[in-house]
Amino acid sequence: MSEPLFELRGVDKSFGAVQVLHGVDFKVYPGQVTALVGDNGAGKSTLVKTMAGIYRADAGEFLFEGKPVHINGPKDSAALGIEVVYQDLALCDNLDIVQNMFLGRETVTGGVLLDELTMEDRARSTLTSLSVRTVKSVRQSVASLSGGQRQTVAIAKAVLWNSRVVLLDEPTAALGVAQTRQVLDLVRRLADQGLGVVLISHNMVDVLEVSDRITALFLGRVAADIKASDTNHSQIVELITAGRSGDIGIPAATAAKSA
Ligand SMILES: Nc1ncnc2c1ncn2[C@@H]1O[C@H](COP(=O)(O)OP(=O)(O)O)[C@@H](O)[C@H]1O
Ligand SMILES: [Mg+2]
Repeated sequence: MSEPLFELRGVDKSFGAVQVLHGVDFKVYPGQVTALVGDNGAGKSTLVKTMAGIYRADAGEFLFEGKPVHINGPKDSAALGIEVVYQDLALCDNLDIVQNMFLGRETVTGGVLLDELTMEDRARSTLTSLSVRTVKSVRQSVASLSGGQRQTVAIAKAVLWNSRVVLLDEPTAALGVAQTRQVLDLVRRLADQGLGVVLISHNMVDVLEVSDRITALFLGRVAADIKASDTNHSQIVELITAGRSGDIGIPAATAAKSA
């Protein structure tokens, strides 16, 4: 297997007296979907926000393409090409697709005017490159889109910026069956284009179908880091709910101490 594109080693994160992440090792490989699974409160979103520079790790190392890097804020992670699509979509209803995709990073000509045509072209070509065919016009307001289309726009926005790593925090949580299908296909295509994709999801069927590797968090510790093809639904459920399954997972004594 190739080297990790992005790697975390021994990451700790506390909020006040509460330690949420305990020595977390996490690897993201290029061209692969890594699923991050765990019960509510296991620390998945905290881990994603730490990778995105929203939170600062208390301890641990970050490596990008094998080299140590520092992530002290969102600008550091953006400079490395790490983009996040959050659970609660950060899209503005009153703006259209192009405006949303370029929000805060508008293309200017001569330092003043927004270069509308260039932005429109890039928005359209990004959606096309991701084989998104369900959006009629990039000048449609985001309020008029379905949940699946909104997620698609949020993902396209994330890959517009030469991203290398895309972190998706429960992109299908609020979607119906057909729209979930659409988004999962898109998640797979991102990886097929060579990106390192991290997918947080509660749906184990989806996780097993779309991911190459699965990292399970239990009470802020990594319970397992396994190939998707080496595991199954009930084993993942055990890892999520008990931190261990068969001969893999966190030793019960460690898990009990942190509970
Ligand atoms: N900003 C914060 N301040 C204090 N506690 C937090 C904060 N964010 C998350 N937590 C706590 O950290 C734990 C993990 O939360 P989170 O990362 O959101 O879990 P998950 O995404 O796996 O459901 C929870 O106990 C949560 O209450
Ligand atoms: Mg979460």
